[in-house]
Amino acid sequence: MCGIVGYIGNKDATNILIEGLEKLEYRGYDSAGIAVVNNHKINFAKHKGRLSILRDSLEKNNLEGNVGIGHTRWATHGEPSDLNSHPHLNPGNALAVVHNGIIENYLILKEELIEKGYEFVSDTDTEVIPYLLDYYYNGNLLETVQTVVSKLEGSYALGIIDKNNPDILIAVRKDSPLIIGAGEGENFIASDIPAILSRTRKVYLLENDEMAVLKKDSIEIMKTDGTKVDKEIYNVDWDVEAAEKGGYDHFMLKEMHEQPKAIKDTISPRIDKNGKVNIKEFSLNEEYMKNINKVYMVACGTAYHAGLVGKALIEKYAKIPVITDVASEFRYGNPFIDKNTLMIVVSQSGETADTLAALRLAKEKKAKVLAITNVVGSTVSREADYVFYTWAGPEIAVASTKAYTTQLVSLALISMDIAIKRGTTEGTIAKGIVEEIRELSEKINVMLKYIDEIKNMADNIYKSEDIFFIGRGLDYYLAMEGSLKLKEISYIHSEAMAAGELKHGTLALIDRGTPVIAIATQDKLYDKMLSNIKEVKARGAFVIGVVKESNKEIEKIVDKVVYIPEVKDELSPTLAVVPLQLLAYYVALKRNCDIDKPRNLAKSVTVE
Ligand code: F6R
Repeated sequence: MCGIVGYIGNKDATNILIEGLEKLEYRGYDSAGIAVVNNHKINFAKHKGRLSILRDSLEKNNLEGNVGIGHTRWATHGEPSDLNSHPHLNPGNALAVVHNGIIENYLILKEELIEKGYEFVSDTDTEVIPYLLDYYYNGNLLETVQTVVSKLEGSYALGIIDKNNPDILIAVRKDSPLIIGAGEGENFIASDIPAILSRTRKVYLLENDEMAVLKKDSIEIMKTDGTKVDKEIYNVDWDVEAAEKGGYDHFMLKEMHEQPKAIKDTISPRIDKNGKVNIKEFSLNEEYMKNINKVYMVACGTAYHAGLVGKALIEKYAKIPVITDVASEFRYGNPFIDKNTLMIVVSQSGETADTLAALRLAKEKKAKVLAITNVVGSTVSREADYVFYTWAGPEIAVASTKAYTTQLVSLALISMDIAIKRGTTEGTIAKGIVEEIRELSEKINVMLKYIDEIKNMADNIYKSEDIFFIGRGLDYYLAMEGSLKLKEISYIHSEAMAAGELKHGTLALIDRGTPVIAIATQDKLYDKMLSNIKEVKARGAFVIGVVKESNKEIEKIVDKVVYIPEVKDELSPTLAVVPLQLLAYYVALKRNCDIDKPRNLAKSVTVE
């Protein structure tokens, strides 16, 4: 999704803006631009394509100035083009605006402005903002912005500069993320912390309907109606290197290797010294837990796949029916939500528009909402009743890896917590599971050593046009994740099938050499899976099996095999996903794909 950076201080704004935008590349974008105030003039450059194009153009024509805004755009209204790129300016180029979000009433506003004689040059919704600023401008930028914001409907994070007020930068936030960075003699705005982390660790997290007036040596935060807001500073305690590649070729590879630590960081604070689950932030009491009549588990993409595994755990141990749904479908159905419904939303970014809408619907219907998210201060985290943070650190690669595995362990702990409070699982059983959850981190390290074997498997399959993933029970949910990972970064068509469903249609697609990744880690379903593997082998499939290490006899049936250490069935996806992530990675590498930034995808999907 779009990324915003802004700077005000004594340094060369252009460099700082470009450096900040580079750190926001992970959000996905199709064009980039900056605008800088200098000598009572706004200079700007904006181009379709990668940041390198903008950088090249700035090398030929540097924009000087100490105040500026920058933007990476992910097209929604209007195709990716130079004209549709941000910043957008008013006629006469006195004011420049960068925007993340969608102005829902822009067509009405545009018509009104056209009637007043304005001529638009882009197809964007954003352009109405500088034109409205132009129309209402009274010399006082703050007042003018407040007037304009009161006319806007929809979501917006804004950065605004004015050639006639060159000593201020204005930031506004509603339903799109925006933070303020406080420096020494300089201040910043950004969509996300990594953009400014090399400059400052002191950050203010703007809430909805808040705005800030930044000068080089002051930050004033207020509601958009002008009411003053006292806000605590948030000290970022993770490292700038955490947001960079740290020696790996890609963020995705780095993030896969961070999984053991991410899991440890996520579970440790929630397990007490007696080995019992103790989730301090999830303070729903026993009475509430006992009265829960159902759980809705709602999320998108990879987070949804984690939710499916969570469903199995909660149903098994807490004995509550769990209804899972993808967030984009959930709110258009007729969900059965009441005050005894617990809604669990899972979102790495905490900004996914559909997930957020599902959360709001559940709250409207009086359900309690628990959010599992990786981003502190994200919208989901602020709006949910309870927040369980996955402490995975920033996930930069578009393809989610460490967020998924930390979501899995979070759901495992949460299911134990609910089960104990409801009295549906004995303490000793829960303790045994918690003990196994603790061992996952080490076992993932074992899985990460399979790199050579996986590279070899990637060599076997990377030219294929279709790859199938099959499994039963939790392995089917994992197959969905393996398939998604492969298709999103390698662009190979892939499908996940419940193995028992194959013969009801899809088996017709299995031919000589068709790769089938068969996951068979569920003890009680193992024999059934063997039959399904034989079915595809009989049609000539090239089968890669993923099984527990005690099942060595599989070597006689499949072409390649990856073993996972012995583990309880319910926890096996956390281990078995690692070879699937690595396989997707090495297949994509062989195909020369842009692994961290796959085509057409964005890291944070803040529109429906
Ligand atoms: C795939 C992937 C996506 C996200 C989905 C939800 O690798 O990352 O499928 O899982 O867009 O995003 P969040 O978790 O941020 O709500």
